[in-house]
Amino acid sequence: MADSMHRKLIESKGAVMAVLTTVAISIGGLVEIAPLYSEALGPEPMEGIEPLTPLELAGRDIYVREGCYNCHSQMVRPFRDETLRYGEWTRAGEIVYDRPFQMGSRRIGPDLQRVGGKYPDAWHYEHMDDPRATSPGSIMPRYSWLKERQIDPEAVQASMRALQTLGTPYTDEQIADAPAAIQRQGGEIVARLEAGNLSAQPDDQIVALTAYLQQLGVAGRKAIQAQKDAAAALEAGTEIPASVED
Ligand code: HEC
Repeated sequence: MADSMHRKLIESKGAVMAVLTTVAISIGGLVEIAPLYSEALGPEPMEGIEPLTPLELAGRDIYVREGCYNCHSQMVRPFRDETLRYGEWTRAGEIVYDRPFQMGSRRIGPDLQRVGGKYPDAWHYEHMDDPRATSPGSIMPRYSWLKERQIDPEAVQASMRALQTLGTPYTDEQIADAPAAIQRQGGEIVARLEAGNLSAQPDDQIVALTAYLQQLGVAGRKAIQAQKDAAAALEAGTEIPASVED
């Protein structure tokens, strides 16, 4: 009975059948496609993961310009040999602001995702000036011109604005303050270089690239440790430390 009703009311009427078929398929399509347009989709940034500072962003643009990704990946894979060599494997929530991402696919040199803090600033300066000076036998090319050229604060602001339109949470104040922020952070690196008898200017390209390299993987490592501490505390039945809970 129900069967013949169905046939009489819907299947025998071509137009009705077509409309209802379209509706049925559209529901499936909407459910699958609509969320892709939602901003909230994708990995959430982990605790403490912030967009790069203007100086670090300038360094990142140089990293991309010079094609460092041709020899260096930025993704520690979850295999024992990798984690023993590089440390924690890379979580998606660490690299949410990395646009375009620098995971890379070739490793002629080592992975750099956790290189931040591994060496002093002066090491990076000397290594980029002449890789053979710090790493005998290295096949990495020299990048000595980075010592002689300066970054353009307006280009950094343009990069920040471009990222802002893509959803990176830079505020207009941060963009306006970028030239001053470059001097501040660059000045700290210059002070450390000078302690090693190297002279540089806060806006030297080599200083910006050093700033970029020195933060790689650092905040992520902290975030992962916090997650592990929270999990261990749960397992031990103790209270989760307040800092992790909120
Ligand atoms: C032709 C391939 C090649 C290119 C291009 C290259 N590197 Fe390297 N890089 C290497 C090799 C090989 C090593 C390992 C030996 C050494 O320390 O120099 C290395 C080592 C490094 C290290 C030390 C990593 C560690 O954990 O010890 C850093 C940092 C680095 N490179 C940064 C850069 C940056 C920044 C660029 C772009 C400006 C760059 N590299 C371009 C091949 C390359």
